Amino acid sequence: MSARTRTLGGILTALAAAALAAPVGTPAAVAAVATEQGEGAAVPGEPGAGDPYFPFAGNGGYDVTHYDLDLTYQPPAPAPAPLVGELSGLATIDLRATQNLDRFNLDLRGLDVRAITINGEPAQEVDPPATGEQVEGAAYWQVQSTVDRKWELTIQPSSTLRKGAKVRLVITYGGETTRPTDIEGALYGWVTTRDGAMVVNEPEGAMTWYPVSDHPTDKATYGFEITVPEGKVAVANGLPERQPVTRDGWTTWYWDAPDQQASYLTTASIGDFTLHTSTTDRGLPVINAVDKDLTAANAATTSTSLGKQAAMIAFFEDTFTRYPFNSFGAIVDDDSVGYALETQTRPVYSRVASEPTVAHELAHQWLGNAVSPERWQDIWLNEGWASYAEWLWTEESGGTTAQARFAEVMDIPESDPFWEVVIADPGPLGLFVAPVYDRGAATLHALRLEVGDTAFFVGARRWIHRYTDSTATTEDFETVYEQASGKDLGQFFDAWLREGSKPDVP
Ligand code: TRP
Ligand code: ZN
Repeated sequence: MSARTRTLGGILTALAAAALAAPVGTPAAVAAVATEQGEGAAVPGEPGAGDPYFPFAGNGGYDVTHYDLDLTYQPPAPAPAPLVGELSGLATIDLRATQNLDRFNLDLRGLDVRAITINGEPAQEVDPPATGEQVEGAAYWQVQSTVDRKWELTIQPSSTLRKGAKVRLVITYGGETTRPTDIEGALYGWVTTRDGAMVVNEPEGAMTWYPVSDHPTDKATYGFEITVPEGKVAVANGLPERQPVTRDGWTTWYWDAPDQQASYLTTASIGDFTLHTSTTDRGLPVINAVDKDLTAANAATTSTSLGKQAAMIAFFEDTFTRYPFNSFGAIVDDDSVGYALETQTRPVYSRVASEPTVAHELAHQWLGNAVSPERWQDIWLNEGWASYAEWLWTEESGGTTAQARFAEVMDIPESDPFWEVVIADPGPLGLFVAPVYDRGAATLHALRLEVGDTAFFVGARRWIHRYTDSTATTEDFETVYEQASGKDLGQFFDAWLREGSKPDVP
């Protein structure tokens, strides 16, 4: 087939698709006009952001700029009542179409949408249409399929959105909250606790508590208004926007997170917390929320580690670049989630915040949060860096050196399955396996040995500078380091990142 015929075939296919996609009652002229303007016919936005590990996480066809989440939450009754809470939400979502769209999706899991307005116009709830079946007028529907991890809310405006159009959605929703699990069975999302909720969304658990384009490629700013029974404390990202307001036995907490943020890094954790506020020497606000019910030993460890946050920030600012956000701090809950998460500006810890973990979650603010993975397979860029930063902090504090930690990893025998994980592609069930962390950190140390200290730290700063407020891939990382070092690192990166065998020490 000649190139010319292929092109013509492509055009015919596009026109046929446009005709099929035009909703009943919409003049075909609408689609035709869009095509003439060179922006393509109005089509449905993709139900995923294109991530091979999580095909239905995030969505296509638009870019969210801001989420304003107005939440009201009733935690569970005392035991033996079930661990079930009640959440109702009003989400105001500002987005911009990135293509001509006749409808588009958000992700929402386990909660029921009760009303939607699109630029003030109410949409009607309908049953999910069969493939090819058209729906008339402004409408929405939900699909909840646990088998293929497909939790989609589809929204159809009454008329086609042109590329560049701004839309404000107001979504009223709610339901019971439980203890959702990620693809490998770990608790995540809105994890209901006896005294509130511990909210940790990595990789695609934000959709368990608000309608969202749940993929790091669509960062946005956030505002939170969280109403809880009087006495409970609600802590989200960023800074308090104003003092909490109590009325009729309910307290509303206001948080403002003006820095670009990936959805997996949002939190709105609720519990019996004590708040501690301070500022670092250079004036960065630090807000810690510590559960009143930690064991005495855990409370003591936590207090010592959190007391070192300002010194850690100063160290990482020297090592990397200026701290990227408006505040820092911690949320330490007495729940059994069993891992910590680097939620933006305010990491969440389960039961205790140990010193290495605080250093790890702090380092993620630059490496993971400011610069986020473009696909979930790039997770080693988060975990390798945060683990390496732990090594650097430990060395800085007079403990084991990074070189000694590297030697420990290199002592793992060649035959050990540890070396079989391909860390640039660990699979959706392998995001948080030990080699992603430890071989990831060892890769960075080996890179440092390969290119020398100067190029290594210049590269780290460039990486952060170039991709802050955005996402990047392993290939982008390799480019930064080939430029910073002036070396061809192809074989080095293949051996360390792409091969399921033990690499040689440079
Ligand atoms: N990203 C977290 C950290 O390293 C860890 C994490 C997130 C995790 N989800 C998990 C660990 C599930 C184990 C299981 O700080
Ligand atoms: Zn981590």
